[in-house]
Formats: sequence, structure tokens, C-alpha cells
Amino acid sequence: MYAIETRKLIKKYGDLVAVDGIDLKVNEGEIFGLLGPNGAGKTTTLSILSCMLLPTSGEAYVNGYNVVKQPDQVRKSIGIVFQDPAIDDQLTGRENMEIHAMLYNVPKKVAKQRIDEALRLVELTDRAKNLVRTYSGGMRRRLEIARGLIHRPKVLFLDEPTLGLDVQTRERIWEYIEALTKKEKMTMILTTHYMDEADRLCDRVAIIDFGKIKAEGTPEQLKKQLGGDVITVKTKSINKLTKMVSELKFVKSVNKTSDAVKITLENGEEHITDIACAARDKGISVESLTLHEPTLNDVFLSHTGREIREEGPFMGMTMMRAKMGRPVR
Ligand SMILES: Nc1ncnc2c1ncn2[C@@H]1O[C@H](COP(=O)(O)OP(=O)(O)O)[C@@H](O)[C@H]1O
Ligand SMILES: [Mg+2]
Repeated sequence: MYAIETRKLIKKYGDLVAVDGIDLKVNEGEIFGLLGPNGAGKTTTLSILSCMLLPTSGEAYVNGYNVVKQPDQVRKSIGIVFQDPAIDDQLTGRENMEIHAMLYNVPKKVAKQRIDEALRLVELTDRAKNLVRTYSGGMRRRLEIARGLIHRPKVLFLDEPTLGLDVQTRERIWEYIEALTKKEKMTMILTTHYMDEADRLCDRVAIIDFGKIKAEGTPEQLKKQLGGDVITVKTKSINKLTKMVSELKFVKSVNKTSDAVKITLENGEEHITDIACAARDKGISVESLTLHEPTLNDVFLSHTGREIREEGPFMGMTMMRAKMGRPVR
């Protein structure tokens, strides 16, 4: 049995297809990431899987239960750490945990033990008596994660668990998530638009864009599939350079970003000077040339033709469409 399975899952909002035929299989004990930009359909997918939203069509199973036909069983077997602050900041950290335990009918004695343990795990024991109002963003997120564990869910859903947190806090949260997966043998399914998060944390990743899965695999597999090295060339003459390198025999693929051209090729170190010379011969001025192994960013770019950026051309387009009364995708 899979921890999560979906078949041709679709969610429409009027004309807008937010989730467009997603097929997922997540194994028990896996940390699985849905990686995609804003508006890709990540939260919508998690909302369906956690029975907060009905799908338009298709099927979804969590721990073997059908999310439409057996929502009670699904709800009991999952934990949710979502964006909207469900934590009451007029209560203390511990009180928030106790309320959650009550909601899930965890016996009082057991609850106390689990709360102590969860608070220790996310290093909030010392602050448990303080009102959540006094917590930092990172502490709140840690409390939410701890709270999601009290009823011992088999699957934990995390929607952008480190959104807006500083580097150190993010690193700590990744460590908690990893530790939990191991210790509690839980399945984690998380969404993120951070490449480093997906790369660092996830056993497997599905790249999602406009409601569709574009690629799926371990971060290693996805990077390897690109085949070879990447040379990033910064230049003002993006189109000219793209055209030129596309004609070079040893180049496998070329992608444009807003300020650079990314070239995928084998034996990059042999050809980096060839590219520099060819550019010079065509009178294309180059600001910098760097050779690196593929990142998930390169993977995303090669599958979608865009980079994941919060305020890149993509967001601009979304807003423009919204203004023009077109479907926002
Ligand atoms: N309640 C809603 N009504 C209409 N459109 C929605 C609603 N919720 C989400 N959307 C749209 O569905 C698409 C996917 O949204 P979402 O799942 O939140 O994406 P993500 O979490 O990947 O950023 C977006 O275009 C968004 O604007
Ligand atoms: Mg979202």
C-alpha cells in the first residue's frame, strides 16, 4: 500500500484548472516534495489530500482511505502543518498542544507524555509556558510541527514548512523533519518552491507547474537526467548568444533566464573556452562564464522553460492576466 496515491486528480475553479490530472504514488516512510512556483497547484493538492477540499474528478487515497468517501479515516491518520496560522497566539505553546490532543481524543496521560516529547524535539520546552504571541516566526512553525505529531499521524502534510524563515531556522526545521521521519516512521509530504529545500530534504520530488507533474524522481536522478554539466553565461545579448550556442555540435540543450543563457553539455570543462571564443568571434560580449553541475533549478528550467522565482516574469504574467480578467494560472 502507498501512503498516498492519486489517479488523474483534477481540481477546477471555474475555468481555471488548478490541479490538472496528477498521478502520485508516495511510499510509506518517504519524504516527498511537491516542488513548483507560486500558483502551481501545490496547496490545492495538499488540501484535497487532507480532506479540506473536494476534487473535481479523479481519485485520491491516503493510507489506503479514499479522501472523498472516507474523510473521517483520512483525517484521523494525518497531521497538517499549513500556512494559515491555526495556532492561537493568546494561548501558551503547551495549551495549543493540549487543545489539539483533545480534538483528536488523545487520552490525557498519553497526551502529556507526547506533548513533552514533541516540545523537546523542537526545542521549545523552555518556552512552552509562554504565550505564542511572544514567539518568533521560526518558533511558531516549530510549534505547529510539534503539534501536528501529537495524535501520531502516519502521514504529515507540510505546506511550505520554511517559507519566510531565516537560513538557520530552515536548517533546524529540516533536521526535525528528517529526525521525525526516521523516529516515528512517518511519511512526509511537503510543498516548497525552494530548490535547496527539495534537494536537501526530499527522498523524491515531483516538479509541478500549472497543475501538472513535469518530472519526478530523486533529486539525484532529476539532475542526472539533464545529462552532463551546465555552463551559465551572463550576457546582455541573450537571444543572440542562445542562437549561436544552439548551433554548436557539442551542446545538448540551451535555456534562457532573465539575465543568462544556460547550456547543458557533456565535458563542460573542455568546451567552456570554445564557447567563449565563439562568442567573441560573433562580437557578443559576455559578463561571465561559469561551469557547474546541474542543480534542481536547472532541472526546473529545462522542464518548464522558466526559473522558479517569486517575482520573476512569471508573477508579472500572472498579475497581468488577472488584471485583464483572464484565467489566472
Ligand atoms: N479558492 C480558489 N478560488 C479560485 N482560484 C483558486 C483558489 N485557490 C487557488 N486558486 C488558484 O489555483 C491555482 C493553484 O493555487 P495553489 O494550489 O494555491 O498554488 P500553490 O500552492 O502551488 O502556490 C492558482 O492559480 C490559484 O490562483
Ligand atoms: Mg501554496
